[in-house]
Amino acid sequence: MVSGGLSPVPEHVAIIMDGNGRWAKERGLPRTMGHTKGVDAVRQVVRAAGGCGVRYLTLFAFSSENWSRPAAEVSDLMGLLRRFIRRDLAELHKANVRIRVIGDRENLRGDVLPLLLEAEETTRLNEGLTLIIAFNYGARDEIARAMRRLAQEAASGRLDPALITPDLIAENLDTAGIPDPDLIIRTSGEERLSNFLLWQAAYSEFVFLPDYWPDFTAETFAEALKLYSGRERRFGGLSPVKTAVAG
Ligand code: FPP
Repeated sequence: MVSGGLSPVPEHVAIIMDGNGRWAKERGLPRTMGHTKGVDAVRQVVRAAGGCGVRYLTLFAFSSENWSRPAAEVSDLMGLLRRFIRRDLAELHKANVRIRVIGDRENLRGDVLPLLLEAEETTRLNEGLTLIIAFNYGARDEIARAMRRLAQEAASGRLDPALITPDLIAENLDTAGIPDPDLIIRTSGEERLSNFLLWQAAYSEFVFLPDYWPDFTAETFAEALKLYSGRERRFGGLSPVKTAVAG
């Protein structure tokens, strides 16, 4: 960290891609068309993030609560994720993108998770942008799973409860090794976190944009970074702190 001045390019940007359904509804289209167009926006933002020096990009692709949507919509979303990996993996790999998946991996049926894990494995040595796909992800669930693991370690005598620190908790979250998001963007005019990265968002800056996700472009991304660059981050202290982008 370097002190003084305004914030530079964020190292980690996380996005709640919201408004696909409303985008479609306003055009008299089925909701699935909004999701389909949303995948094009995903492609644009991955390219834009890599191009401007962002090191980590997290996308909230499917929450643990999204299973409660109508079966047909869940199936459409699974199909889109599947197609995204099948069609784009080679190009992402060539662009040196490393893929990571966060979310609960237990008791999932279907071939989406295996495909995502294959993408993770294929790209694990890449050193460019890290694209983190939040799939079957819910922050409270993530924290509960980490707590369960630590409690089991403590109960078996392998971990002294006095050694449970915020760092140890962070190391047991799905995001272990990934810096906290500097900037969280949510589209569609909604202004809430919806169980996304609750622990990691402790000092994140928030940018809420009115655009629906399918309309999100490289320009919208640049606008969010510009808003972020005007923010003064103090991390609980009195002086502004500037976080440097590594590498
Ligand atoms: C929110 O819009 C969006 C989602 C629940 C899914 C986001 C998924 C994608 C953009 C496609 C797949 C992702 C990747 C990474 C390839 P909403 O349906 O809640 O919109 P609404 O609030 O207007 O109804």
